[in-house]
Amino acid sequence: MIPNVISKRKIILDTDPGGDDAFAFLWLQSLARQGFAEIVAVTAADGNVAAQYTFAGACKLLKLGGFDTVEVGRGVINARQGDRADAEAIHGADGMGNLTHTLPTPEQSYDTARLSDQILIEALKQAPGELTLVAIGPLTNLAAAEQASPGVLQLAKEIVIMGGAFSHAGNVTPEAEFNIAFDPEAAQVVFSCCDRIVVIPLDITSQLIFTPEHAQQIFQENPNSSIAQFMVALCQFMVKSTLAFRETSGVPGFLVHDAATMAYLFYPETLQFQRAQVEVETAGQWTRGKTVIDRRHKAKLSANAWIATEVNATSLFAIMIEDLKQLVASNR
Ligand code: BDR
Ligand code: CA
Repeated sequence: MIPNVISKRKIILDTDPGGDDAFAFLWLQSLARQGFAEIVAVTAADGNVAAQYTFAGACKLLKLGGFDTVEVGRGVINARQGDRADAEAIHGADGMGNLTHTLPTPEQSYDTARLSDQILIEALKQAPGELTLVAIGPLTNLAAAEQASPGVLQLAKEIVIMGGAFSHAGNVTPEAEFNIAFDPEAAQVVFSCCDRIVVIPLDITSQLIFTPEHAQQIFQENPNSSIAQFMVALCQFMVKSTLAFRETSGVPGFLVHDAATMAYLFYPETLQFQRAQVEVETAGQWTRGKTVIDRRHKAKLSANAWIATEVNATSLFAIMIEDLKQLVASNR
């Protein structure tokens, strides 16, 4: 007999908000409100902007969506990270299109928050095999958790990562994608200690151009909604910076890379995958941060990940927009 009780997917979102993180985050909150997901914790990561801003952004997004009882961790700052360029030019000084002042003030404080790796370790040990880690920023927190407690990432049900570029060019260097390039050593730690990884790379996210028309469709559902108003304003900011960086070949829109993780988790029919052993280049003078797989037809002895190779962007956007409409429908 088929059980009629749907068990929610228990998720820890590791994020560095980020314009596209914000859309992924709001989509997740819609799915949680609809009863498909449980947000166990949010672990902010140092990345698009500095750790105190990603922490603030994560807290504000949870408050906006009404999930502000969820614990937020503050991102581990890796000693090597001093010389790394963030993505403030794309996402705004606060990571959120310079719009955080328009969002509600959360109760959580950066100074008293637990570190993200501590939260990951505790949660994974408490619920072995049950938690899905969705990592949409650099992998510093996950690697720190593994280094502090070896074997802990293998306790995850699955690790879904937005990152990497295989056949596609990089977006921060000719070969490397931001989330991996920001902390390649951390990424390599994660890929070498777990074999239940799903990778959503630039190869497919570069096709996900979210436009002001998409934002308008959500806004029309409930123009009084503060979430809808925020989405429209954030989209406007992101389109401008994205055009300046020529990421969409002149199409007025921006890439919602991180949102594709939600498509995989809840609407996997929108994607196709290939299994492979992913490694991260940590030494190359020109290729540091590149994700590498072996495409040759030679017998493979191991594989650690499923890599998304194709996406049905039309379907993905239709679904995402309907879910976001549901979130704004009853919001003021
Ligand atoms: C990734 O880099 C960040 O700037 C985005 O938020 C996304 O996670 C895309 O390369
Ligand atoms: Ca991100």
